[in-house]
Amino acid sequence: MGAGCYTRGMFTTQALEGDKASQYAQLHAQAQALLEGETDRVANAANLSSLVFHALPDLNWVGFYFFDGTELVVGPFQGQPACIRIPLNRGVCGAAASTRTTQRVEDVNAFPGHIACDAASRSELVVPLVNSAGNLVGVFDLDSPLPGRFDAEDQVGLERIAGVFLASLR
Ligand code: SME
Repeated sequence: MGAGCYTRGMFTTQALEGDKASQYAQLHAQAQALLEGETDRVANAANLSSLVFHALPDLNWVGFYFFDGTELVVGPFQGQPACIRIPLNRGVCGAAASTRTTQRVEDVNAFPGHIACDAASRSELVVPLVNSAGNLVGVFDLDSPLPGRFDAEDQVGLERIAGVFLASLR
């Protein structure tokens, strides 16, 4: 069934509770419920950006860049307007996309080639999005105004959230 506000009603999120692992488990369940039955990547990226931006503290940008076959192009996000196109050899996003490895950057000012879209950003986590066919879809990018905002637990939790998005595209 194509889920929407007419068919499913308003999506209300519960505040996350407990320790970080338990909070990410709740967020994962919310993400699955939000994307359930929908395969449109713009719709799902938009809703997931909003869910995560509002659920987690100390974030100033959450969103998606999609690979157009040449470079990364900004997709749905929450936060200040962002750089539109990022070549694969530039920035934290380009590094995540070209190496297909999550980039967890404690201090963006110390990352060579970091692209400052929002001057408030101090730390960043970028998860590459590779589909089941092995193709690069894009990246899921989170920025924080706090240095060292993302630890290993955040990385695992947010990689699982990115997995919910990838699974929804099928
Ligand atoms: N800082 C990123 C660019 C994207 S913005 O953070 C939204 C980078 O260096 O790739």
